[in-house]
Amino acid sequence: MTETAAEQTETFAPPEQFAAAANIKADEYERAEADYLGFWAEQSRELVDWHEDFGEVLDWTNPPFAKWFVGGKLNVAYNCLDRHVLAGNGDRVAINFEGEPGDSRTYTYAELLAEVSKAANTLTDLGVKTGDRVAIYLPMIPEAVISMLACARLGAAHSVVFGGFSSDALRSRIIDAEARVVITADGSYRRAKPTSLKPAVDEALSQGDTPVEHVLVVKRSGQEVDWVDGRDQWWEDSVGQASDTHECEFFDAENPLFILYTSGTTGKPKGILHTSGGYLTQVLYSMKAVFDIKPETDVFWCTADVGWVTGHSYVTYGPLAAGTSQIVYEGTPDTPHQGRWWEIIEKYKATILYAAPTAIRTFMKWGEEIPAEYDLSSLRLLGSVGEPINPEAWRWYHRVVGGERCPIVDTWWQTETGAHMIAPMPGVLSTKPGSSQRPIPGISVDVVDDSGENPAGPEGGLLVIRRPWPAMLRGIWKDPERFKETYWSRFEDTYFAGDGARRDEDGDIWFLGRVDDVMNVSGHRLSTAEIESSLVAHSKVAEAAVVGAADDTSGQAVVAFVIVSNGAEDSPETAEELRQHVGKDIGPIAKPKTVHIVTDLPKTRSGKIMRRLLKDVAENREVGNTTTLADASVMDQIEKSVAGA
Ligand code: PRX
Repeated sequence: MTETAAEQTETFAPPEQFAAAANIKADEYERAEADYLGFWAEQSRELVDWHEDFGEVLDWTNPPFAKWFVGGKLNVAYNCLDRHVLAGNGDRVAINFEGEPGDSRTYTYAELLAEVSKAANTLTDLGVKTGDRVAIYLPMIPEAVISMLACARLGAAHSVVFGGFSSDALRSRIIDAEARVVITADGSYRRAKPTSLKPAVDEALSQGDTPVEHVLVVKRSGQEVDWVDGRDQWWEDSVGQASDTHECEFFDAENPLFILYTSGTTGKPKGILHTSGGYLTQVLYSMKAVFDIKPETDVFWCTADVGWVTGHSYVTYGPLAAGTSQIVYEGTPDTPHQGRWWEIIEKYKATILYAAPTAIRTFMKWGEEIPAEYDLSSLRLLGSVGEPINPEAWRWYHRVVGGERCPIVDTWWQTETGAHMIAPMPGVLSTKPGSSQRPIPGISVDVVDDSGENPAGPEGGLLVIRRPWPAMLRGIWKDPERFKETYWSRFEDTYFAGDGARRDEDGDIWFLGRVDDVMNVSGHRLSTAEIESSLVAHSKVAEAAVVGAADDTSGQAVVAFVIVSNGAEDSPETAEELRQHVGKDIGPIAKPKTVHIVTDLPKTRSGKIMRRLLKDVAENREVGNTTTLADASVMDQIEKSVAGA
């Protein structure tokens, strides 16, 4: 969609009432910039309950390895639970859980503290100690949040693996993180069908070569599961019987909180490491500043799964540390009907909704008469995350969901950044459809040209982050060299985000998508290399190249071009078999939308595949410059075979 200049500069001033009551006032940007370390120290002391105060705000003597809030001691779970109960808010609802089949549960802060204490006691019984790792492979049920907080309470890092990932993906993450315990469920519900989880865990552990000693299994779907005596325990039998009090210890600000694997430009997912004090500070600041949270009255709903960073920061840690009430929903937006989200908002009187543009575009397709049937008047603020939101979707979200009264915060950040980095302050800035606008106070970003030295021109350039930030990743698990190489080697002392961006004449930032071989499908990061290696591992594939092609609903779609091996048939059945193979190998989200079987791939003389040209084909565009190809006729053949497919 092309936008006219007038549409691009259209802005929406914050509603008067919203601005008057907003947590953040306009002077915050300047105040933060005048002394950014002082600003973060002030935010941290105000928002986090420190057991022992910190000394130095930032130790950056060994870049890119940062230490924030040096010497401070805290317990992240205490900040999410105990302090609210101690402040007399134990009866406030922490989680309104809505299961896909329609079952619901509510936990107050006091109840959630009791459940987390039980889980922490159980993990201790299973031998989990401070510094250990626990893998969590659960659906979107309260036990996922409870498990994460139980780990945090013990100072053990969790590694949550998205329930949609395959046993292979789970297995490699368990091995890399050296997890001692896995927490899973018998199954979950998806599109009204129970789907299994435990068999994937069994398969991941079947070779007996992982460090896993125990598997805790939550009963959710009631499916029959295989059982390994001595290793497996029902959550109900262990956590259910454990003591509901647990005295917590306090850990160093830099104690690891979690590892979360994310796709990079090479085949192997990276274990992104986050620690405690800085992460919690920035997550809490974003709750206050970007989501304008009012814990006494808000009902927050972030629709992301806890398997992604958005679920870590804005389902588990942000809302609970802020002490607000929130909604956790297990299922899909169209089960049992396409009004399910709106029904949930009406039922719980949600005030803040945080979702991905891909969901908004899907709702647009289903039609605005569906949300119109529900009372959405409780909403006061909307958020967007995961991919650029196109102005048309922004305006639909604003008008149909937000009734033209809710500001929209388009939040740019990454697994690596831990919390929001670029987003409008909703009570201060006039928002602009499609633009994330400005870094949040205390954060400094730039859009630069290829040399990294000059500001990019109007056509755009690369997004970089100039200064360390509290919630920044502390490294890639067990791979310091890869950490330096991936993010800090392109430009000196500067974090390279991998995103293209441009600034408009007001200085507002617009995102242009990834500049590397990372795809963004429905707001989820996938690596072309990871899918290619999955494809070539199949006996029928000789070579494969994968691109992310523009897609109206999911932002990008995975399109694969493969050369089949000798003897394998060039047929729709083979293409389908390969799609299914990737789905099984990595997970259904990685399944290519289309597999084109071709006879050759476009390569430079040095043998590098030119994905840019394949992307042109996948997006139905005229193929770009082919002069650097070793054999320019390859593209004609590919275009012909794709057209004939
Ligand atoms: O390309 C950017 C895109 O998502 C990438 C980060 O993906 P992930 O680590 O999975 O985290 C997603 C949720 C924070 C970024 O490099 N991205 C994320 N948010 C936006 C975005 N692109 C444009 N606008 C956004 N608001």
